[in-house]
Amino acid sequence: MIIDGKQIAASLKAEVAQKVSEASAKRGRTPKLTVILVGEDPASQVYVRNKAKACEAVGIENETIFMSAETTESELLDTIARLNADPSVDGILVQLPVPRHINESKVIEAIAKDKDVDGFHPLNVAGLWQKTPHMAPCTPKGIMKLLSAAGVDPKGKRAVVIGRSKIVGLPVAKMLLDANATVTLCHTRTVDLPSVTRGAEILVVAAGVPKMVTGDMVSDGVVVIDVGMDRDPETGKLCGDVDFDTVAPKASAITPVPGGVGPMTIACLMENTLECFLAHFDGLGNL
Ligand code: GUN
Repeated sequence: MIIDGKQIAASLKAEVAQKVSEASAKRGRTPKLTVILVGEDPASQVYVRNKAKACEAVGIENETIFMSAETTESELLDTIARLNADPSVDGILVQLPVPRHINESKVIEAIAKDKDVDGFHPLNVAGLWQKTPHMAPCTPKGIMKLLSAAGVDPKGKRAVVIGRSKIVGLPVAKMLLDANATVTLCHTRTVDLPSVTRGAEILVVAAGVPKMVTGDMVSDGVVVIDVGMDRDPETGKLCGDVDFDTVAPKASAITPVPGGVGPMTIACLMENTLECFLAHFDGLGNL
């Protein structure tokens, strides 16, 4: 079975659109997301455009602030401070990566916790690990929703996560653990990775290496979530971290690239923006 991320994302967005419409009528204003892009990275330009399009589709007001690659750290921090203080802005997202002369951690920490739609602020990260109210990061949240939509309950299953990034690997491992899976967190330097991945009933791959997981590395019936967004070095075509052609025949369910995790990340960003909007009226405890 192919897990149709596009379709699952479309139904989540429809749900969010309905709630946005109801909440806007009740509160007398519309949720608003502000995205900041520093520099001209072409991939980032595509990502911020897709975020703006998704906002339009669900009725969330949106604004993208384009700042030049020469923007100083203090100029960016000043812009964030202004948006933190602006009551019409519910969510703030700074597209990563930022240029090297800007300290990424400082930027992430500058965004108000209750406007942090990415869930990257240290207090939101702490909330995930301590099970207190928090904004959940979009990609891991989307992965859990994909599993649920595919009818896969992680409870009691052996889940293997390849990749230990702050954005995907670490938080998705924690979410799988909280869903009562037994989780192995490994990475590209793991010794004898195939012996680990063959034990997986759920395999989440966020390694950033094109087609790294091949058919011989998985067991029959595995559920595979491919977080990769790579270019095939041979064909130049978009591909994932999983070699779809050899893994799909053994998998009971698998996400394609593109059309799997990517659309869910954006749909969850819309949901997070709505949650920030509601929290601004009803308090942070509801996050
Ligand atoms: N760059 C790549 N993925 C992300 C993301 O989820 N959020 C932000 N802000 N930047 C990114």
